[in-house]
Amino acid sequence: MASPTDHNAEAALSLERLLPRIRARAGVAGGSDVPARWTAFAERLERHWPYLFGPLLELYGSRYDFFYHLEKLAWSLFESWMERPADLVELDELRERDGDWLASPSMVGGALYVDLFSENLPKLREHIPYFKRIGITYLHLMPLFAVRPGDSDGGYAISNYRSVNPSLGDLDDLTELARRLRSEGISLVLDFVFNHTSDEHEWARRAQAGDPVYREYYFTFPDRTLPDRYERTLREIFPTVRRGSFTWYPDMDRWVWTTFNSFQWDLNYANPEVFRAMAGEMLFLANAGVEVLRLDAVAFLWKRMGTSCENLPEAHLVIRAFNALARIAAPALTFMSEAIVAPDEVVRYVHPRECPVSYNPLLMALLWEALATRDVRLLAYSMRKRFRIEDGCTWANYLRCHDDIGWTFDDDDAAAVQIRAYDHRRFLNQFYTGQFEGSFARGVPFQHNPDTNDMRISGTLASLAGLEQALERADPELVEMAVRRILLLRGVIMSIGGFPLIYLGEEWGLLNDYDYVADPAKEGDSRWVHRPRVRWEYLESLDAPDSVSRRIYAELVRLVGLRRETPAFSGSRTAFEETGNESLFAYTRGASGQHVLVVANFSEATQQMEANRLRLAARSTRMRDLLTGEAHTTREALTLGPYEFVWLEADVAGGRLG
Ligand code: GLC
Ligand code: GLC
Repeated sequence: MASPTDHNAEAALSLERLLPRIRARAGVAGGSDVPARWTAFAERLERHWPYLFGPLLELYGSRYDFFYHLEKLAWSLFESWMERPADLVELDELRERDGDWLASPSMVGGALYVDLFSENLPKLREHIPYFKRIGITYLHLMPLFAVRPGDSDGGYAISNYRSVNPSLGDLDDLTELARRLRSEGISLVLDFVFNHTSDEHEWARRAQAGDPVYREYYFTFPDRTLPDRYERTLREIFPTVRRGSFTWYPDMDRWVWTTFNSFQWDLNYANPEVFRAMAGEMLFLANAGVEVLRLDAVAFLWKRMGTSCENLPEAHLVIRAFNALARIAAPALTFMSEAIVAPDEVVRYVHPRECPVSYNPLLMALLWEALATRDVRLLAYSMRKRFRIEDGCTWANYLRCHDDIGWTFDDDDAAAVQIRAYDHRRFLNQFYTGQFEGSFARGVPFQHNPDTNDMRISGTLASLAGLEQALERADPELVEMAVRRILLLRGVIMSIGGFPLIYLGEEWGLLNDYDYVADPAKEGDSRWVHRPRVRWEYLESLDAPDSVSRRIYAELVRLVGLRRETPAFSGSRTAFEETGNESLFAYTRGASGQHVLVVANFSEATQQMEANRLRLAARSTRMRDLLTGEAHTTREALTLGPYEFVWLEADVAGGRLG
């Protein structure tokens, strides 16, 4: 990929031509009374222009009307900046000074569906104290915009990016919520669903009505010739919805490119108008008070015949161009990538000029893998090789989100630790759907593809970790093991580097809810099994001292509190350590003179890390477990009980490495 500096001369010249035109149109005269807003705008435009111009030139430079689009875009940046509310401009300045806010150990993410959590936006406001009790500082509200009726893929089939789904509230409720959250130290995170719109979006409707301008917003075909050729190299994402990636719309007499559900139309970014139109929607969201946009389905943004149409270089250029827009007109806005793809590809989106935050799907999948196998070799190998990301970037570490679990580890990594990837994925699918003898998990298959035998897994954290089965068997020992598995996985995502992201409801160990099949809009999509309506009656059981939910919740709050007080847990730099034991996963974290060694036992048997290994990993002969206060030394082996984990802080004053 060319870097923006490759086009510096062209960038400078085009800005030289553009700037006076915008200035004149904006009515800004020269001299000393130039308004401060304009000065700030012009300064940022100059600073970031090459990063916008470069990608756009590569994407659209061969178009006869390139300069027209450029000028329109620059003008909409200016307009959007002028409309930006004063409190957000203040935030812009703050974030520009402290670009590292995401690296703080006080960062903790939460995600929820507004309707399922609190019915609507006004009621969500009342839960702010609850978020604060947990320690959440980053709140992702699942898509809440106007959607098509019936199945809307959980809000991901958007019909209007500027209006809130009326059953949840309106735009004022949203901006008010954003403001309230911000005043309580919580950043609002929303999706930027920019790969596709619903078939009921105004653009799609016009395309259906035959408007040639809007036809160009999407990919439509009169017959199967091109779809067949594309499909030779495409992966099927939702094979149980319909085979292939195209849907026939009889009223239009055309096939439409629909990577996901048949009612989600992929946008055509080869058309600069699409880029501009979506840029407008993005800037609108930014000015509504959104601090982080989760860029949905980034991998699929660009299509080229003969390729998988995933992760193409142009997809990265599109994101970089959007990022540059934000740097100019809404600097406080940052991006999180949702690239649930092969690990080599995931990290390519993680860059300060692209998405400074990313889901960590590899860690997620491999934590579950290690739990099933009681063997951390693939996890440790993969993390050692792949955890490191660009400075200034952050992992969002999660165990469950609203989506399924796919086994996205790298086949060569698996081979390196003597694992056959295909068989292993089959085993994991059997294990997590409870078909494997002795499995503790209660997952549900998602998108089984009969041709490739591929499938993914749905299920809540607690059900996958064994709690559902244990409660059903009313076996206190199994319950204990399930709870410990949950705590173990949390102990890792709280400390490994980056910030933890919790799907809300999981904080109390919510179980699978099989009733989704009664709702015709949901029955075809097993992901609803782990997206139940939050039952606030549960909160009462939190008060019962012996309740399992209470313990799971209280431990989460405790871990978050400890994390916040542990400077070593800031940032995303981590050293992975050899433990000499297949069931023990270990790493060290360090910052501000503090060093913490984390060791986690992924088996239900007691395990030891030998003193020799401990000495190599530890920074001091004496250590104290931040979780229990217990002292440890490197003179003897470290013994960990079933699923136990420790956060060992080096007592640097007390003893040197020995
Ligand atoms: C993303 C969302 C997923 C949705 C898909 C299509 O992957 O996380 O829930 O189905 O995009 O929008
Ligand atoms: C696929 C896509 C991912 C999406 C998921 C939804 O795995 O790669 O982006 O979230 O499907 O199920």
